[in-house]
Amino acid sequence: MKPFTIVFFLLALSLFGYAQVVTPVEGESWLKHLHRPFDETSMGKSSGVYGPAAPMPSEWPPPNPALQLSNKFSGQSTTLHGSDLYRLKCQGCHGPSGTGAPPEINSVIDPVRATSARVYIERMKKRGMDVTWKDAVPLASQAKGMLLDRLHKGGTDMPSPTPYLTDAEVRALFAYLQLLAGIPGAEKRQIPVIEPPLRVGEHIVKSTCHICHAAVGHNPSSQELLDGQIPPLSRLTSRLSLNEFVAKVTVGKPVLEGSPAIPVRGHMPVFTYLTPDEAADAYLYLSLYPPRM
Ligand code: HEC
Ligand code: HEC
Repeated sequence: MKPFTIVFFLLALSLFGYAQVVTPVEGESWLKHLHRPFDETSMGKSSGVYGPAAPMPSEWPPPNPALQLSNKFSGQSTTLHGSDLYRLKCQGCHGPSGTGAPPEINSVIDPVRATSARVYIERMKKRGMDVTWKDAVPLASQAKGMLLDRLHKGGTDMPSPTPYLTDAEVRALFAYLQLLAGIPGAEKRQIPVIEPPLRVGEHIVKSTCHICHAAVGHNPSSQELLDGQIPPLSRLTSRLSLNEFVAKVTVGKPVLEGSPAIPVRGHMPVFTYLTPDEAADAYLYLSLYPPRM
């Protein structure tokens, strides 16, 4: 399908009130907000720790680029589970297992385990302490309240999980966090949410890309890239074509740096845990909802 056809299709969908309320990404990057240099943080880099490095210029283009968009990439809504929401919104900082990168990024496991009265009772029993349900339940519900609060507001060093999560999204994410933390029975409580592609793109851009990329700003030259500038989100869709963009995100792609410009290995982490379709959703979202100041 031609990009215009896709755009038209999506607009038609949103006119019918199908889409959740999607809004443009705005403001400075999270790293800028924290005054934290790109080289001195683990934020947004969990895939860099666990995944392959970006390809060298000599390895580009890959012999078999896994860049084929599926035929589902046509504006259809997809079914996401809490595990997907976690991938799109949390994994960049907390990693695939939730353990984060202490001391900068706390593990989510203990605060999530604290939301289960049963886990608490068993843990205390192991330490030789007898705790009743009557004692454990209020503690667990207090811990749950704190966790849900964080899912709406973030923390001092953690961005609030924008876009604002719907109740269904919060429930799906919470159920997955419990699964990640090994709370018994959590596997039976996983629930799906239906999300239109623009919402998927919004989740990825606001919770992952916006960690390092500002919404708007000057388009850096190859020399400025060498000096460490990061291009703003508003320029990405014109810097790269859809296919190049998908490659940059999912398998990594060399970047032109210096003057004269030469291709070098990218500094950006490779998000191997995002699918080509999801990266394309991010491209579409950035094109249809131009980032704002
Ligand atoms: C930009 C990086 C970043 C992203 C994205 C992020 N977090 Fe965090 N998170 C942090 C940092 C840093 C801390 C510890 C400091 C703080 O609380 O502000 C933290 C702390 C937490 C804690 C509390 C840990 C404790 O010891 O009490 C939980 C729970 C949590 N995050 C869950 C999540 C979930 C769920 C998501 C996805 C919706 C998420 N985080 C996305 C950076 C991030
Ligand atoms: C941990 C920080 C970080 C995160 C998170 C991040 N980027 Fe980047 N990105 C960079 C840096 C640094 C560069 C410039 C150097 C390079 O290309 O590797 C860059 C460059 C780019 C480029 C331009 C490449 C070019 O050749 O002009 C695109 C496109 C891009 N990022 C897309 C994304 C998308 C989409 C996301 C979210 C899925 C994302 N980035 C998340 C750090 C990040």
